[in-house]
Amino acid sequence: MLKNDSFLKACRKEHVDFTPIWIMRQAGRYMKEYRAIREKVDFLTMCKTPDLVAEVTLQPVDILGVDAAIMFSDILIPVEAMGMKVTFTEKKGPAFANPVRSESGAEQLDILDYSKSEEKMPFIREAIKLILQSLDNRVPLIGFAGAPFTLATYMIEGETSRNFSWIKRVMYTQPPFLHNLLDKIATVVTHYLQLQIDSGVHAVQLFDTWAGYLSPDDYKEFALPYVQKVLNGLNKKGCPVILFANGVSSILEHMSSASPDVIGLDWRVDIGDARKRVGDNVALQGNLDPCVLYAEPPVIKKYVKDILRKHGPGPGHIFNLGHGILPDTPVEHAKALVEIVHELSSKHVIGDE
Ligand code: CP3
Repeated sequence: MLKNDSFLKACRKEHVDFTPIWIMRQAGRYMKEYRAIREKVDFLTMCKTPDLVAEVTLQPVDILGVDAAIMFSDILIPVEAMGMKVTFTEKKGPAFANPVRSESGAEQLDILDYSKSEEKMPFIREAIKLILQSLDNRVPLIGFAGAPFTLATYMIEGETSRNFSWIKRVMYTQPPFLHNLLDKIATVVTHYLQLQIDSGVHAVQLFDTWAGYLSPDDYKEFALPYVQKVLNGLNKKGCPVILFANGVSSILEHMSSASPDVIGLDWRVDIGDARKRVGDNVALQGNLDPCVLYAEPPVIKKYVKDILRKHGPGPGHIFNLGHGILPDTPVEHAKALVEIVHELSSKHVIGDE
């Protein structure tokens, strides 16, 4: 039995005594404890070393007091396992030496089924086992994967992109090729998430980071069907699924039509409006601008209060940032955020207001 299951309850829209919070990219360079480990090993090695994964995953639980842990890894790990060599550099982020831009490139990809997923990424099951042991039921563990469109963006662009000109070129000039690639990626993502669910994670998040850069009609054609394929293909075993995109405002209703348990919001949408637009059947996660954490706690408090008020007292809100925490965030401010969310949302304080 979990000692603190407020996050899972909020995902299921059940009553909670306080609004649970976790932070996207909560394990990372803004923490000196993370940097101390990262100094000794490169990022990919870290992701593939279960005892380091467990150690880093636990850091924000111990240091910040968040209500959920998220397995330390990266959305590009299964892409590498499909046969695409990836490197991570401090300045440029991830890069692929050979982006996929043709049928022959796509044919060389290894479309991992469940057992191949296990075989190529044995560290996943092992890391989840170690994390669950270290967590000792304190808080739930979230697993994750990149959504097919976002993974295709990296595979086709070869790096983080500004204009997405390669994937969009392919989208408008060779749509059957892109559909075929997205379908293959969706198969891999489904097996990869199933492996995490079977290994014991309590919830999963699909990161569709770049889907908000599509027009709503293109989202409907190139992103949504493959999110849907993943969701329909999973044996969830009671695990809530969170669907996050950056730039949700223009695609919110479409995202909702995939019926995730939770929709993750970036900060550019008013959470009260989002609640009205999607109704009460789905939980919402978010959505503080990560840059608010540059400010001192009294300012953070003001912005947290606004978000809690805008969502309202109804069930189904998980507090988070609208995107990942930035590397130059003061850790004290992240700690203060967790305390503020807990304090302001607890019945006692709301009752006093
Ligand atoms: O939330 C967590 O704490 C779990 C860890 C996690 C990482 N990446 C660790 C990481 C998660 C959930 C991700 C997901 C991820 N990775 C996404 C989707 C979420 C998002 O931010 O939109 C994307 C697009 C990636 C791809 C990726 N990985 C980029 C663009 C970068 C470089 C940016 C950067 O911050 O350097 C990475 C590297 C990466 N992934 C780091 C971490 C902690 C930094 C690596 C380092 O230590 O040098």
